[in-house]
Amino acid sequence: MSEAFAVAASVAKTRAAGPGEARSPRLSAIGVTKTFDGRPAIDDVTFGVGEGEFVAVLGSSGAGKTTLFRCLTGLLAPDRGQVRVDGDDIAVLQGRARRRVALVFQQFNLVSRLSALDNVLAGRLGHVSSWRGCLRRFDRADRLLALECLDRVGLLRQATQRADTLSGGQQQRVAIARAMAQQPSLIVADEPVASLDPAAGAGVLELLQGVARADGVGVVCSLHQVQLARAYADRVVGLSHGRCIVDLPVERFDQPAFRLLYGATDSSGNRGADA
Ligand SMILES: Nc1ncnc2c1ncn2[C@@H]1O[C@H](COP(=O)(O)OP(=O)(O)OP(=O)(O)O)[C@@H](O)[C@H]1O
Ligand SMILES: [Mg+2]
Repeated sequence: MSEAFAVAASVAKTRAAGPGEARSPRLSAIGVTKTFDGRPAIDDVTFGVGEGEFVAVLGSSGAGKTTLFRCLTGLLAPDRGQVRVDGDDIAVLQGRARRRVALVFQQFNLVSRLSALDNVLAGRLGHVSSWRGCLRRFDRADRLLALECLDRVGLLRQATQRADTLSGGQQQRVAIARAMAQQPSLIVADEPVASLDPAAGAGVLELLQGVARADGVGVVCSLHQVQLARAYADRVVGLSHGRCIVDLPVERFDQPAFRLLYGATDSSGNRGADA
């Protein structure tokens, strides 16, 4: 695999900022507002994600996390406000430029009949010509990079295994390898561990944290388990009724901040070990 490592190293675009270095913004959400049927699902939300930073988005069910993420990825146009990725307005990023944002979903969203490797290669589709993509004709460098990504998530030996025969935790690792192969500026992960057992979930978050650190990618990840945010995130952004009411370095996300965010309004009970 040494060649794969060399290819991956040569194509790595950025590195995380070291301690004390300024982080350039990967994502800027500025006054983002989205209303459904006259009711704001997200209301004037402003926050940023820096290079190499892992931001956990917390909030009760219905607080607006998925709606916010759909706006961040350009899947949904906000009524007001702006989303910038590496300084560029997501609304005007078309086609291949959208590859700067990679998505990780709760339900993995792999192509079940394809191998792990072919699923990871899908992350290269935005980088190859459309005819190559249609014919799934990836060149050697793309294949080596995909193998390197599988290696990084600990699944090199499962490269040829069909996706639907992998465990849930393994499938989410493949999805992260696919996101890595895309070489994005930003990874947006909406409840990526909600379908996994605690150990597999922690492993997935450790991987996302590692991608942020090693590749300088910004990671924004919604969670219902506060203790996982504390363990893996650099910052906590908290939504309540669509508004951003918490934006703190994780070490300052203390008991009062927890109560401010969840207060007496949360009845889900699914917040992991409280503060
Ligand atoms: N397409 C839509 N049409 C109407 N209302 C919507 C739509 N999408 C979301 N909403 C509403 O917006 C609010 C926020 O929903 P959202 O799915 O963003 O919450 P969430 O924080 O992701 O919740 P959960 O933790 O349960 O996933 C909810 O009141 C929801 O009913
Ligand atoms: Mg949601």
